[in-house]
Amino acid sequence: MESFVIKGPAKLEGEVKVSGSKNAALPMVAASLLAEGKTVLKNVPDIRDIRNLVKILEGLGSKTNFKDNVLTLDNTNIKSCRPDFKLVCNLRASIMLIGSLLARLGKVEISKPGGCFIGSRPIDIHLKGFETLGAKIDQRGEIYNITVDKLKGAKITLRIVSVTATENILQTAVLAEGETEIRLAAIEPHVVDFCNFLNKMGAKIEGIGTHNLKVTGVKKLKPVEYTIIPDQIEAGTFAIAGIASKGEIVVNGFIEDHHESFLNKLEEIGANFNLENDRIAIKPSRVLKPVNIQTEIYPGFPTDLQAPFSILQTQAEGTSEIFETIFEGRLNYLHELSKMGASVVIKNPHQASIVGPTPLYGTHISSLDLRAGATLIIASIIALGTSEINGAEIIDRGYENIVGKLTSLGADIEREVEE
Ligand code: EPZ
Repeated sequence: MESFVIKGPAKLEGEVKVSGSKNAALPMVAASLLAEGKTVLKNVPDIRDIRNLVKILEGLGSKTNFKDNVLTLDNTNIKSCRPDFKLVCNLRASIMLIGSLLARLGKVEISKPGGCFIGSRPIDIHLKGFETLGAKIDQRGEIYNITVDKLKGAKITLRIVSVTATENILQTAVLAEGETEIRLAAIEPHVVDFCNFLNKMGAKIEGIGTHNLKVTGVKKLKPVEYTIIPDQIEAGTFAIAGIASKGEIVVNGFIEDHHESFLNKLEEIGANFNLENDRIAIKPSRVLKPVNIQTEIYPGFPTDLQAPFSILQTQAEGTSEIFETIFEGRLNYLHELSKMGASVVIKNPHQASIVGPTPLYGTHISSLDLRAGATLIIASIIALGTSEINGAEIIDRGYENIVGKLTSLGADIEREVEE
């Protein structure tokens, strides 16, 4: 077990550059299986989820090299259609291997993916999409045996907007015979980046950035070089940390167009910031006003920033409401915040309220999921005293070099490894 020990309070100062987008890189690693030969991905974040997914691909026959955020995947000889069950269990993005192995080999045997516990996270939309494209699914417990003789294009309307279901079905449809239409497709920045990656490989996807994707199947895709966009959620996390610490920081890689709803909420809460080409400069704010957050699909307020944003709500002068509409298990971090002195009421699995401002005090807390862990780091930076956050490896899943980046901004943070 690893934990972070943080001494607060600290005022963050300086400039930080966000890494490449985790949620763009993960589907691209999986989809690299669609083409024989060497795919080269640049600006890949060096995080646990990437390293675990690369390990799974190596088990399938991929030859990989990952250095200085450049990931090379030689998928000439993909022998196996059975991704390592243990690794699949702790990585939600491993679900993306269904679409790529189905399109590459016509078969895949995989267990239900794991990942952050932020709700039940069913995979029915993925499976329905593959069946509509002609696949046969044999489920035994949590093991899925999926085969297809010939992928045939079809019209698919997702039951609800799903990011990885959109990406999973898409990477299969691009090699299906004929036309496929995916309605209620997700349009997050990382989904758009993924569509652009597939098109660079030779796919024919139209309607990118809309909820209605039209795909014309092609026979073959070629391996490409591709540079990944900056991580929208990491950029937002650091902006929040700067505001919460009342410091002066610049977040490099903050693409204004990716953050419309988030920026609206920063304005509403009274944060002091300005934007200049792909950077946000944070300055100390006078008083933070209470703000209600309702998470939505993009371009609404992102569910992945709901937890980090709550730290600002604990320091706002009044009562703020949270309505987490996407997941039913994403408010548990508030129990950890209340151990630090936050005044929170969890009304139901989707709604909570926070009364501020309350001072936060260092104590022992747990990272229940990736973004909850990042939230506790921000809370510990502004808290009075020392905090120990266990589950550091959960935070490492999505934040590259979090200790180095925060230390360079003046935080007092160390990693402790328990024997
Ligand atoms: C992706 O998860 C992200 N992960 C999540 O980021 C993010 O929170 C989520 O999208 C929403 O933006 C990756 O991209 C690897 P969904 P995903 O399918 O695709 C329900 C992070 O912190 N649903 O869009 O798994 C689901 O339960 C992670 O970086 C079904 O019911 O999310 C949820 O309520 C956490 N059936 C809603 O749809 C399905 O088959 C949206 O989930 C699929 C999803």
